Amino acid sequence: MKRVFSGVQPSGTLTLGNYLGAIKNFVPMQQENDCLFCIVDLHALTVPQQPGELRKQTRHVAGLFLAAGIDPEKSTIFIQSQVGAHCRLTWLLQCLTGFGELGRMTQFKEKSQGKESFSCGLFTYPTLMAADILLYDTHMVPVGDDQKQHLELTRDLAQRFNSRFGELFVVPEPMIAKVGARIMSLDDPTTKMSKSNPSPASYVSLLDEKADIVKKIKRAVTDTGQEIRFDPENKPGVSNLLTILSLCSGQDIVRLEEQYSGKGYGHLKQDAAEAVVAALEPVQQRYSQLVDSGDLDDILAQGARRANELADATLHRVHKAMGLE
Ligand code: AMP
Ligand code: TRP
Repeated sequence: MKRVFSGVQPSGTLTLGNYLGAIKNFVPMQQENDCLFCIVDLHALTVPQQPGELRKQTRHVAGLFLAAGIDPEKSTIFIQSQVGAHCRLTWLLQCLTGFGELGRMTQFKEKSQGKESFSCGLFTYPTLMAADILLYDTHMVPVGDDQKQHLELTRDLAQRFNSRFGELFVVPEPMIAKVGARIMSLDDPTTKMSKSNPSPASYVSLLDEKADIVKKIKRAVTDTGQEIRFDPENKPGVSNLLTILSLCSGQDIVRLEEQYSGKGYGHLKQDAAEAVVAALEPVQQRYSQLVDSGDLDDILAQGARRANELADATLHRVHKAMGLE
């Protein structure tokens, strides 16, 4: 059995991008793998958070994991801060990470750009992510496209550690979907759909009401011309809607192109809106039943117990290899 690990930050409401690019892909992986899915609250702290809101969002992500189909009987769901080994391994790995390496991370550059001040945590964030993954002998990491560079760093750190201290870490592989790894913003299809975007019209939240979803998709920015074809470079808006429709309806993009030949953007928007509503409806229903139930606390406590056992065993091996025990 292969080990799978992925993490999602509780730093706001999850978007359709998080769902289609990551969480939806977690579900089928549970059949044949030992999966751990983590709510990475320590990562969220790299930018300022309001404590009450962070607590609420952490539960929100856990509830959405379950509502999306992650089965706690098969997979381990846990909160990062409840497993102390993540911080401890981060320090050890930081001592193997080059300052220049972290400075080259594009996400750091984007998030720090133009800011008068930002935290050291924002800078060292990729090393914490490497620790998350390496603690669990992870083989596969399902993520969206924006995490590719962080995964490369994780692989480099694992290899560096292994060559200095002996083969200890599994070198993980990223799993990035061919379609949907980068869902674009609705009001500017040249940028990634993101929950940190101040404009709510730019994203569909997983808990948006039906009418809002329809309104946002109908107002999505489309491209000049009339043709409906998949061409992310020249037709980013239409291509984004085709991607969303394809993933929510299960229809192939090539088939969709044929189907919309001679039809206008209005048709595509209407169908995409309906497909998103239909895809999110069952998730929203399950979420409302789950989020206030005590089951969620039990699942998270059980998840933390298992994660702590696995992580402590790895940390112990790392300590020994490095001369700390
Ligand atoms: P985050 O919300 O940054 O913790 O991201 C959680 C997961 O969702 C990661 O695997 C991201 O790569 C993925 N993700 C976030 N935004 C998008 C997007 N717009 N399109 C596809 N995947 C995304
Ligand atoms: N950095 C990831 C993001 O922002 C979240 C994350 C943290 C993660 N640790 C991880 C993803 C480990 C995969 C594996 O999306």
